[in-house]
Amino acid sequence: MPSTQWREVFLSDENTQHTKKVHVFTELQHKRLKKHGHGRALHRNKVAALKAVLVVEGNLPDYARQGIFAAPTVFEAHVRLSNGNFAVDRAPDIRGFAIKVLGASTPSSADVEQNITLVSQETLKVSGSADVVGIVDLSTSTPGAALRKAATEPRLTRSAVANFRDMAKPFSGFATHDFFSIMPITFGDYAARLKLCAASTKINKAARKDLATDIYTRLADDDLEFIFQAQFFEDERRTPIEDSSVRWDAPWLTVGRLRLPRQAQDEALAETVEKSSFNPWIAATEHRPLGELMRARQAAYSVSWRNRGATP
Ligand code: HEM
Repeated sequence: MPSTQWREVFLSDENTQHTKKVHVFTELQHKRLKKHGHGRALHRNKVAALKAVLVVEGNLPDYARQGIFAAPTVFEAHVRLSNGNFAVDRAPDIRGFAIKVLGASTPSSADVEQNITLVSQETLKVSGSADVVGIVDLSTSTPGAALRKAATEPRLTRSAVANFRDMAKPFSGFATHDFFSIMPITFGDYAARLKLCAASTKINKAARKDLATDIYTRLADDDLEFIFQAQFFEDERRTPIEDSSVRWDAPWLTVGRLRLPRQAQDEALAETVEKSSFNPWIAATEHRPLGELMRARQAAYSVSWRNRGATP
């Protein structure tokens, strides 16, 4: 059964560590500025900007009826689909599915923006945010510097290799893949990880080469509907709060549906979405991000959007 007995583990001096390390993202943005202009430190390669609707399920059990899921409602939303690192769609990568639920009301507040950031893999094989920053640093270093770092930090290299293996798994397109939050957020007093289930099983073989054309071709003909699920914390052994490398062993509960209505590319929407910030900390109080990896994102996302002159 879902439990409220979850616990976060705070590292000593972690705020200072998080703030100290964000220079890696600033350097990355500066490196790309000359050639490509302003953009996100990670996930700068946009695949699509879309209008969406989140339909909250009725008859949810009490433990799930929290925050934006408190009552059966329909919310407008914006979606940004992205490649994590590379501009080339065929390259092994982590794909991003970012959702901004607009004008949501929850039992504690009215007109809140709920951001939900999901990626194309269920786990991240790191032991904390220092590894994420280390891997980003490694992957953007010159070959000589990367080799030196790899030699002095074998644990980081093992983590980078393990994650690269996950990223190298075939990606069939945004409509046909599942997406995950990796880390949990609160559901009131409970905690849960999130998942969007693929909207279609019909794989378009050409999608891998052109992810944008695949999604817009599908949306020219019909709506796409993704089932939205939550997986609740039960106990630290099967559903560890802090360990992003573990697939949780608990049932998934359908809490809503994310519908992408039929639509064509919309330049004005693309511009709004590109300028905005999709950040799990922009959230209703009932949906606070949990865990050290999430806390590190506060400093990283702030510096990234400040460097690109975006609006929170
Ligand atoms: C825990 C799992 C994580 C997930 C699911 C995730 C997901 C995402 C997604 C979907 C985006 C693209 C947002 C958009 O389209 O605007 C993004 C951007 C970004 N991520 Fe993460 N991320 C995670 C962890 C981290 C960590 C640990 C860091 C660094 C400590 C990080 C740093 C960034 C940065 C700097 C951006 C660009 C933000 C911006 O300029 O708006 N992420 N992430």
